[in-house]
Amino acid sequence: MSTTGKTTGRTTGKTTGKLIGSGRTADVYEIDDAWVLRRDREDWGDAAAEGAVMEHVRAYGYPVPRVRPGDSLTSRTDLVMERLTGPTMLEALAAGSIGLREAGTVLAALLRQLHTIPGRRPGTRVLHLDLHPENVMLTPTGPRVIDWGTAEDGDPGLDWGLSAIILAQVAVDDQPIADPARAVLAALLADPADLTEVGLAEARRRRAVNPTMTPREVELLGAAEELVRSLAFPPQDGVRRGVPRDEGNREST
Ligand SMILES: Nc1ncnc2c1ncn2[C@@H]1O[C@H](COP(=O)(O)OP(=O)(O)OP(=O)(O)O)[C@@H](O)[C@H]1O
Ligand SMILES: [Mg+2]
Repeated sequence: MSTTGKTTGRTTGKTTGKLIGSGRTADVYEIDDAWVLRRDREDWGDAAAEGAVMEHVRAYGYPVPRVRPGDSLTSRTDLVMERLTGPTMLEALAAGSIGLREAGTVLAALLRQLHTIPGRRPGTRVLHLDLHPENVMLTPTGPRVIDWGTAEDGDPGLDWGLSAIILAQVAVDDQPIADPARAVLAALLADPADLTEVGLAEARRRRAVNPTMTPREVELLGAAEELVRSLAFPPQDGVRRGVPRDEGNREST
């Protein structure tokens, strides 16, 4: 994460404060003690839609930063939201202030809680589709989920598939973080809940065409999918556990 204080962002004529965070697609600038500006670097997102989904899930008590009313819900690139304090889950893992198993359990609980919230299409649920340790901040009042640019309405199996395959891509690489990522993944999938074969296959397909992926990350997708499958659907008496209850199409129920 970049934490340089040299860069500033401009929003509707106002100069904002220092850069406090940066991901693959966005930069986050301080506005004041209460608010930050999240600015997409590319014009492919829809910040207004992102703010709307954050407010939708917050209305159901889901732990997300509050979106500032008024100036945030019209821009494609700029979103003004509540400033959170605390490390990301990845930073907390690196510092040893959260355990590997606890991290996986927290991610699973956040997915389960999210999927209780109805989407706007009948029969769907709200999906985050990028819920991993860099998109959870551990605040003094508990974990909060950030980075809602990929959110959609759909089937929870896809959200489980994406969280699992994102962790698995790290777990099958040859970096020092691989073993910790594998342990977090195993805890996430300890009770695989709504992970489905259909969701996992679609998650892999989406990762393969994601423009933020490096060639190396794409190359690791096959091994990542196999790792997820081995943890989530181990053969039992010749039958695979976790096969979708209704062939993966829960939207039809
Ligand atoms: N509401 C907030 N309050 C304080 N810091 C924040 C807030 N939102 C984001 N940040 C900081 O900015 C960083 C980047 O935010 P975010 O994950 O939204 O960007 P991104 O570019 O979409 O990330 P990704 O690489 O996952 O696509 C976070 O890791 C965090 O350090
Ligand atoms: Mg992020």
